[in-house]
Amino acid sequence: MAKFETQVGIVGAGPAGLMLSHLLHQQGIASIVLEAKQRSYCEERVRAGVLEHTSVEMLRDAGVAKRLNREGLRHEGIELGLGGQLHRIPFVELTGKAVTVYGQQEVVKDLISQRLSDGGDLRFECGEVSLHDLEGDCPSIRVEKEANVDIVSCDYIAGCDGFHGISRSSIPPRALTVYDRTYPFAWLGILAEAAPSREELIYMHHERGFALYSMRSPRITRLYLQCKPDEDLAEWSDDRIWSELHTRLGCSDGWRPTEGKILQKGMTGMRSFVVEPLKFGRLFLAGDAAHIVPPTGAKGMNLAFADVHYLAEALREKYRDNNDAKLDAYSATCLSRIWKAQRFSWWMTSLLHLFDDASPFDRKRQIAELEYVTSSRAAATSLAENYVGLPLD
Ligand code: APR
Ligand code: PHB
Repeated sequence: MAKFETQVGIVGAGPAGLMLSHLLHQQGIASIVLEAKQRSYCEERVRAGVLEHTSVEMLRDAGVAKRLNREGLRHEGIELGLGGQLHRIPFVELTGKAVTVYGQQEVVKDLISQRLSDGGDLRFECGEVSLHDLEGDCPSIRVEKEANVDIVSCDYIAGCDGFHGISRSSIPPRALTVYDRTYPFAWLGILAEAAPSREELIYMHHERGFALYSMRSPRITRLYLQCKPDEDLAEWSDDRIWSELHTRLGCSDGWRPTEGKILQKGMTGMRSFVVEPLKFGRLFLAGDAAHIVPPTGAKGMNLAFADVHYLAEALREKYRDNNDAKLDAYSATCLSRIWKAQRFSWWMTSLLHLFDDASPFDRKRQIAELEYVTSSRAAATSLAENYVGLPLD
């Protein structure tokens, strides 16, 4: 059995765990990151792609935005589509802020590379992780791999291991309240080798279901179709996908998405989920381990960054001033912002999707709401300020 000691043990090398480890390093606080998967899996898994203004600032302040500054695509607005007509929501005009399209796996690559060049202790394919003595002064992480057992003793543990990780389930259920909502649809997403033929993202309301036109780079588009939650991907040939995308995204001015080789197909579930509190003894949950949003508001990765911003601040005050106030307030501080993002993600989802059980009244009300958002500066500003990211402090 090998024993290790560190100040903060971090479970999970996604955006939350890696960013936390980097922010702590900048404050002279040591951490060990334990990740179940291979480095290549973390770096290649295609997921979210929109960074709020707030997250871009955070990455810049943390000195890890060199490639983001070069390759990130700055978007000054989005388009909302209704009845084949597009209506622009001009973020910069309404809020003074923009968002940046830059894939989550690119952020992960940048953070891993920075941590390694700073001598960070990242352990990929670490083995089976379990958490111990969370309510005591010296919690530990046990890592079992084949015949080896490592014990990592720490002052604090950060559970950054995503929705399916072990951190949240290490907390006794009686200590947590779960808020959960599933939606009666999913997204079928593709990554296509096609240069974006539109400058901004299109969120399209359509009588056959919602469709989203997004992108990753000047060569790659990312597109989604609302589908059944249990949709069988095998029934979606490339031709069927393109035909449905043309039908739903086609605009009255003749614009259609440009086709290209489909590089990847996948399904994304739609769920709103929060546990409270985000703290149990010396374990702090951050990111998807604590909450999930439906992807319509593009908030997932951004919420993960906000959580670890607050956690790094709180740990800094603890180590520098021996002040527990921010650690004690961590859960409440995060939750106030998390619930606003939950509200926004739920609202964007309700605004744009086809709900099978919607009554004729509900459908008329949804159209009226879209017409309102696209015609009222006040309503568009509300959408814009939430999309670019509410302030952190
Ligand atoms: N032990 C160690 N690592 C684990 C374990 C475990 N038992 N379980 C999961 N992990 C790892 C996963 O392999 C993954 O690399 O934890 C990491 C969690 O990363 P994410 O799921 O990306 O979660 P987070 O860092 O909170 O980032 C949230 O992910 O789902 C997207 O849209 C969401 O963009 C948001 C982001
Ligand atoms: C994406 O590009 O993957 C994307 C963009 C906007 C969203 C969700 C996903 O709201």
